[in-house]
Amino acid sequence: MLSRRGLPREDVKMCIGVVGCGQMGSGIAQLAAVNGYEVWLHDADSVALSKARESISSRIENLVLKGYLTKGKGTEAIRNLRCTSNLEDFHSADMVIEAIVESEDVKKKLFVQLDNIVKSSSILASNTSSISITRLASVTSRPSQVIGMHFMNPPPVMKLVEIIRGASTSDDTFNATKSLAERFGKKIVCSQDFSGFIVNRVLMPMINEAFYALYTGVATKEDIDAGMKLGTNHPMGPLELADHIGLDVCLSIMKVLHAGLGDSKYLPCPLLVQYVDAGRLGRKKGVGVYNYSKI
Ligand code: NAI
Repeated sequence: MLSRRGLPREDVKMCIGVVGCGQMGSGIAQLAAVNGYEVWLHDADSVALSKARESISSRIENLVLKGYLTKGKGTEAIRNLRCTSNLEDFHSADMVIEAIVESEDVKKKLFVQLDNIVKSSSILASNTSSISITRLASVTSRPSQVIGMHFMNPPPVMKLVEIIRGASTSDDTFNATKSLAERFGKKIVCSQDFSGFIVNRVLMPMINEAFYALYTGVATKEDIDAGMKLGTNHPMGPLELADHIGLDVCLSIMKVLHAGLGDSKYLPCPLLVQYVDAGRLGRKKGVGVYNYSKI
C-alpha cells in the first residue's frame, strides 16, 4: 500500500507481486517475504513454480537454523509467500517486480497484461539487465509508474540495487522504489535509461572479452579466470561469473548493448553464441564454460 507521496505506508502490509521464479525472481520473492511483505509469486511454468516454493522455504529454514532469522520471523516469511499460476491474483499488488526471460517482446506482452490487472496506483518494476525501461513503459497506460529495479545475483545476498528511471518515471515512483530497496537492506545506485545501465554496461563487455580470449586461444579458461581473480582482485573470474549469471542472459545483454549503442565492440563472441545454441547455459543447466555435473 503506497501513501500519496508514493512511499510505503507504515501501518499497512504492502503486497508485492513477483513474476518469474528463476534465479532472480525466487531470490526477490524470498527477500520480500523475509522483510515482512505479502508476496505473490507467478511463473508460466508450474513445475518451476513448485520447485521455487520448496527452495525458498528451505532457504528461509536455513536462515532460521543459522540464527539469521528467529523461528517466528521464518514462519511468518513462509506464510507471506503465495505462489500462483494465475496472474489475475496480482490485482491486490501494490508493486510488481518482473523477473522473466530477458526478451523485450515477451516482457512487453507481460507489461500489457499487468497494466490491465493491477490497481491504477500500482508500480510496475522490471529487473531487466539491459532492456529499455522507457520502451517497456510505453506499452502501459502508466509510464510514470514504470521503473527499473535491477537486483544483483543472488538477490538476498548482494548489496546493490540499481534503479533505472525511464523517460517518464515520476519522482514518487522513484522514491517508493528506493525506499523499498532500502527496506530490503540494499544500497542503491541510480542510472539513466541507456542500454545495460551502469553495471552491465561495464561488466558484460569484460565477460564477452573473456570469451574472445578463450575463443582465440589466448589462454585456458582456468588461467583467464585466475588471472582476473588474482591479478585484479575480482572475487570470481569472468567466465565463472558468466556461468553464474547464465550464458543466455549474458548473450541477451550483449545483443541489447550492440543494438542499443550501435558499436561493433559489443558484438557477442561467437563462442558465447555457440555455447547458448548448445544449451550450455551455465550453472542452472549443470554445464556452461565449466561442467558442474560432478559438484
Ligand atoms: P531464469 O531463466 O532463471 O528464470 C526466468 C523465469 O521466467 C523462468 O522460470 C521462466 O519460466 C519464467 N518466464 C519466462 N517467460 C515468462 C512469462 N511470460 N510469464 C511468466 N514467467 C515467465 O532467468 P533469471 O536469471 O532469473 O533472469 C530473469 C531476469 O532477471 C532477466 O530479465 C535477467 O536479465 C535479469 N537479471 C538476471 C541476473 C542473473 O544474474 N541471472 C542478474 C540481474 C538481472
